Amino acid sequence: MKSLFFVIVVMAAFTRCTSTTETINAISPDGRVQVEIVESKGKIGYLVKFNNKIKIDTSFVGFDLQGQAALSDNLFVSGIEKSSFSETWEMPWGEQRLVQNNYTQLVVKVAEKQALQRTFDLIFKVYNDGLGFRYAVPKQAGLDEVIIEEELTEFNLTGDHQVWWIPGDWDIYEHLYNNTPFSKIDALSKRNHPNLAQTFIPENAVNTPVTMKTRDGTYLSFHEADLTDYAGMTLLVDNKNLKMKSGLVDGPEGYAVKIKTPFVTPWRTIQITDNASDLIASNLIVNLNDPAEVEEIPWFKPMKYVGIWWEMHMDKSSWDVAAGKHGATTQNAKRHIDFAAANNIGGVLVEGWNTGWERWIGFPDREGVFDFVTPYPDYDLKEVVAYGKEKGVEIIMHHETSAAPRTYDQQLDTAYQLMKSLGIHSVKTGYVGPIIPEGVRHHGQWMVNHYNKVIDQGLKYEVAINAHEPIKPTGRRRTYPNEIAREGLRGQEFNAWASDGGNPPSHLPTVAFTRMLAGPIDFTPGIFDIKFEKYKPNNQVNTTLAQQLALYVVIYSPIQMAADLIENYDKQPAFQFIRDVAVDWEQSKVLDGEVGDFVIIARQERNSENWFFGGITGDNAREADLNFDFLKPGVEYDAIVYKDGQNAHWNDNPLDIDIQKMKIKANDSLIIKMAEGGGFAISLFANQ
Ligand code: NOJ
Ligand code: CA
Repeated sequence: MKSLFFVIVVMAAFTRCTSTTETINAISPDGRVQVEIVESKGKIGYLVKFNNKIKIDTSFVGFDLQGQAALSDNLFVSGIEKSSFSETWEMPWGEQRLVQNNYTQLVVKVAEKQALQRTFDLIFKVYNDGLGFRYAVPKQAGLDEVIIEEELTEFNLTGDHQVWWIPGDWDIYEHLYNNTPFSKIDALSKRNHPNLAQTFIPENAVNTPVTMKTRDGTYLSFHEADLTDYAGMTLLVDNKNLKMKSGLVDGPEGYAVKIKTPFVTPWRTIQITDNASDLIASNLIVNLNDPAEVEEIPWFKPMKYVGIWWEMHMDKSSWDVAAGKHGATTQNAKRHIDFAAANNIGGVLVEGWNTGWERWIGFPDREGVFDFVTPYPDYDLKEVVAYGKEKGVEIIMHHETSAAPRTYDQQLDTAYQLMKSLGIHSVKTGYVGPIIPEGVRHHGQWMVNHYNKVIDQGLKYEVAINAHEPIKPTGRRRTYPNEIAREGLRGQEFNAWASDGGNPPSHLPTVAFTRMLAGPIDFTPGIFDIKFEKYKPNNQVNTTLAQQLALYVVIYSPIQMAADLIENYDKQPAFQFIRDVAVDWEQSKVLDGEVGDFVIIARQERNSENWFFGGITGDNAREADLNFDFLKPGVEYDAIVYKDGQNAHWNDNPLDIDIQKMKIKANDSLIIKMAEGGGFAISLFANQ
């Protein structure tokens, strides 16, 4: 990722030994977001104002450390440094090509007055759309390797905000979002969901991103950026005092982080906007990450893919051979390659190709079971890859680890060498089940390091990673552009088998303003046989067909699956949208939206004047009032509009779709009715 242009201005620096009364603050380039440092009775904290109103009230910082006094009292500010920074950088692939990265930086030097005289810096970066801050702990006497039992970072709210939350599960993010006032958050009530192969919710906490709306219409979203060599952060909920505090995920030893000085923590982020759409448009999380060391990875190109996948979730076939209906056969893979080649689809994912699936789930001892280089006898890996090459279609590798990461670690080199030798440039990984060894959590420091090591390994062997049951994305894709997408939410698969009725219509209009702020999502849209009566009469997808199309635009990922059984796309006029839709974007415009209700996004294809629109609704029908004023003036576009039919409804009539061709120019407008659980998609091809 290239930085096209940057400017850094150092504004002020001072050191001091005694406290003064002047305010230490940093203000965003547009003046709307302001951070103030608070020193009170030996504690150091911060507060945040937006449009001159306090949005985060005094919140203190610090650490509980093992074997020494907490680093949270007897503190004072010994100096500050202020600077401003401005750059435009280029994403190698993404929602947009050029990203503005403009902020004011404040480094607050903190020291202990007596006792151990330990020191740390608090680094704030204040943007127009919020802020990030992190601790930087230097090497110093008595602080060589530290054990962090807890980080004491507080987020003190100013009211009983409306919150969209999932529980602070240490092992999985695959929960439905809940919408309650902050005072009513009850994460413990979400324990033991019957469809989760691993779940651990120790306290009343939420996972991030967690999004809120204040009574006066400000939107706040809390998350973290650059999660490296540290434990994932949940946010502990104090319902009574309307406060949150970081709750780090512990390892098996009972503490969260063991780390050598000097170190930095991940950025603690607060996105602040005055409408919901701007949360999606915010680049704060990626901006807080370092630029890429490898500028380009020409071996990865954004693409659409199909796969031997949904058929297993439908029980049409199986991952393992022993079950007698094996999906990953040479012949079935070739059938998918033919389909992809004929339909402008770049990749084919094949799950269940390797030995080990007989013992992948429900066995306590899963160590040494999966083999990442040995295919089942009815799958000729080399022949399939060669057939794909002939047809211009890439095979996507699949590595289900069954949450035995040490077995995967041991095979990383051979497995990635095999991919390199075959010219396979992407892998979907999976971590279903409780991690072995016991007590290691998916979101703890050990696993954070494992997931990051896999990314490094991918860079070394030219492989891009799409992790399922992952650690949440924290914008590291800026530094490691082979972090292409991941799951980390309740995906489409729940519609195939969840015992709770699948994802309700409000799910994705909530995901767009929560999980999607963290990074690309492998949601796997495009189910056309919405009720799948033949395979799973008691389950269904709770959206209309038009919404399934809209998701290619709304839910961003550089890889987008056409997830249905390929035979279900046969003779379907709506499939034309999936053939046509782009996967890499010059720019994106979030046109309108409300958390949990609806969202409408338009994206311009990279290296083209073509645009694609997607809109989705939750429980309520609504009209999308589209204005095309940003199209290129003087150009006539051939448009195809795919929208809910007159009688469409996610449950009563999901397949009712209305497809119309029309001409559209800049400044035209169009009103489109979206049904309950519905939506629309538009492709616009520039004539020039
Ligand atoms: C869970 C993943 O989310 C799903 O996509 C995959 O098919 C199974 N694990 C098997 O790896
Ligand atoms: Ca999953």
